[in-house]
Amino acid sequence: MAGETDCSMLETTQKIREKFSSLLSEVKSSADLDALRIEFLGKKGQIAALMTNLKDVAADRKKEAGRIINEAKQFIEEKLREKNDELIALEEKRQIDAAEVYDDTLPVDPGLGSYHPITLIQREVEEIFSSMGFYVEDYSEIVDDYHCFEALNIPKHHPARDMQDTYYLDNGQLLKTHTSAAQNYIMRKYGAPVRAVFPGRCFRNESTDACHENTFFQLEGIMIDRDISISNLIYFMKTMLSEVFKQDITVRLRPGFFPFVEPGFELDIKCTICGGVGCPSCKNSGWLELCPCGMIHPNVLRAGGIDPEEYTGFAFGLGLTRLAMMKYGIKDIRVLNSGNLRALSQFIDG
Ligand code: DAH
Repeated sequence: MAGETDCSMLETTQKIREKFSSLLSEVKSSADLDALRIEFLGKKGQIAALMTNLKDVAADRKKEAGRIINEAKQFIEEKLREKNDELIALEEKRQIDAAEVYDDTLPVDPGLGSYHPITLIQREVEEIFSSMGFYVEDYSEIVDDYHCFEALNIPKHHPARDMQDTYYLDNGQLLKTHTSAAQNYIMRKYGAPVRAVFPGRCFRNESTDACHENTFFQLEGIMIDRDISISNLIYFMKTMLSEVFKQDITVRLRPGFFPFVEPGFELDIKCTICGGVGCPSCKNSGWLELCPCGMIHPNVLRAGGIDPEEYTGFAFGLGLTRLAMMKYGIKDIRVLNSGNLRALSQFIDG
């Protein structure tokens, strides 16, 4: 009897696996996939039912039967995961095909110049910040170690430097890895109170792919005054992003570590494509990581000649390149440095 139960358990499990595989091959959408997940792995699903039946199996066979069921469960989980990845990739492809934000094959009118998408977004963000009383400042692309790291509370041999390898000149200067390198200069130039944004080209020793480039743009901002708090930071970021995306933007802060701010955050915006429900663009999380930021570290204020007992401030480092890609639907970062006029000349109106 025990042997029979055991044997039928094996058969039943096998049948469940087969049924699952056949249903899986018909899945066309995440909704189908979810339904399948619930049918097989849900609380009242087929695997759960097998587990319940386990109590009828003879004691000396329980272990083996349990193993068979577990294997089936793992098999189903694995296949569901694979299918999910497949559906996400398909959806991404479908979106890229459907988006046609720019057409690589359009003929170019050689007489007509146009602004680069980064220039367009940079000007737009600069205008928004100047309307809120921020100076717009420029800073060199070649900087020294002090401005790029030391003045930002990143001493020599600090592990944070590992993330920012760059190109060094023979005289010890380097191509700046982030626009934060200008913070000290701005503080020294204006003292406190000050509000300023400073865009710039940044460089990192990175291999390139669709999401990474060795040359990209950021726009940094600082605001220093008496009693500046995180609320000020949230207000300015929300206002700026709502203007850029021409819709009310919801933001959230997550803790993030950067030696030059304390506390430091990652600012996310609710996905503008799916409204937070989850889609391939936001990797189904409903949120897009956009802008690291935080309250300026007292050591950084001190290095800039500002008394941290009297003044506080926030800083943010907006990824302009990323913002341009999001706003204009550019899927491959390499297009931006490509000089491909067919792609780049299509953003005349922003
Ligand atoms: N400079 C940082 C980077 O490129 C980004 C950053 C983080 C800038 C936090 C900030 C900040 O101003 O507060 O990785």
